Amino acid sequence: MNAIPRLPAMPPAADTTIPAYTASGNERFLFEKAWEKRLPLLLKGPTGSGKTRFVAHMAAKLGLPLFTVACHDDLSAADLTGRHLLKGGETVWVDGPLTRAVREGGLCYLDEIVEARKDVAVVLHPLTDDRRILPLERTGELLAAPPSFMIAVSYNPAYQNLLKNLKPSTRQRFVSISFDFLPREREIAVVSQESGLDEGAVAPLVDLARRLRTLKGQDIEEGVSTRLVVYAASLIAAGLPRAEAVTAAIIEPLTDEPEVRAGLAEVARAVLG
Ligand SMILES: Nc1ncnc2c1ncn2[C@@H]1O[C@H](COP(=O)(O)OP(=O)(O)OP(=O)(O)O)[C@@H](O)[C@H]1O
Ligand SMILES: [Mg+2]
Repeated sequence: MNAIPRLPAMPPAADTTIPAYTASGNERFLFEKAWEKRLPLLLKGPTGSGKTRFVAHMAAKLGLPLFTVACHDDLSAADLTGRHLLKGGETVWVDGPLTRAVREGGLCYLDEIVEARKDVAVVLHPLTDDRRILPLERTGELLAAPPSFMIAVSYNPAYQNLLKNLKPSTRQRFVSISFDFLPREREIAVVSQESGLDEGAVAPLVDLARRLRTLKGQDIEEGVSTRLVVYAASLIAAGLPRAEAVTAAIIEPLTDEPEVRAGLAEVARAVLG
């Protein structure tokens, strides 16, 4: 039987260096166990629900260098693995973020993975099953991922369509967690911490967000994100009148339709008084 290599000891991290994250369930423990067992992780959930913050928090907590890639429809495998570049008249190989994460035993986070080009799956597949290898055709290397290396990917299911969807063979390589907005009291605490506005003043903003979330799919495409509530609270903490902050940070970002905007403003007046 092959000896299982020991995982690197967790470096002691001062709390101040860890981005704040309030859990909605057992996701921190799950992340840690997935990392220990070398399983890739997929996070899905609406915009502004804490996916990116969660990954930053866990990377810091586990002492892993974090390599974040915002995927877009032009993102190719070479953008992740690396390419030969001309430097001072010479061609040199430059590692991409995925290759760096493998070499350094870090955490590679691919945000909005569904946006990436299809050839990205080709490099992800051997890395996200039990082989854990990254073949670099261009340099002839075959990198074996060290035990501490991990891949996390995320996407927003609301933006999916038939053309942009993960293939089952990709999807079934990941342990998956669904994200949603925090329960009321915890969301109030998060927004207060993030913005510096006291909880009493934050509560009506969270209540408004929760009310507007019930309109998702009718008048608005996506519910109000926690991010927008943090924006509104931050503007109020900076001295902007509440009504203006709510208009600029919560209502305007939700819609371009004048009628819908007027309807949302009506709801805001009713909730905020
Ligand atoms: N659970 C949480 N703990 C702490 N802060 C949170 C939490 N959820 C949301 N936030 C706050 O909301 C902001 C947005 O969260 P984040 O950027 O992680 O969302 P996301 O799910 O990655 O969104 P997107 O899909 O748009 O990238 C954070 O910067 C943070 O201020
Ligand atoms: Mg994000």
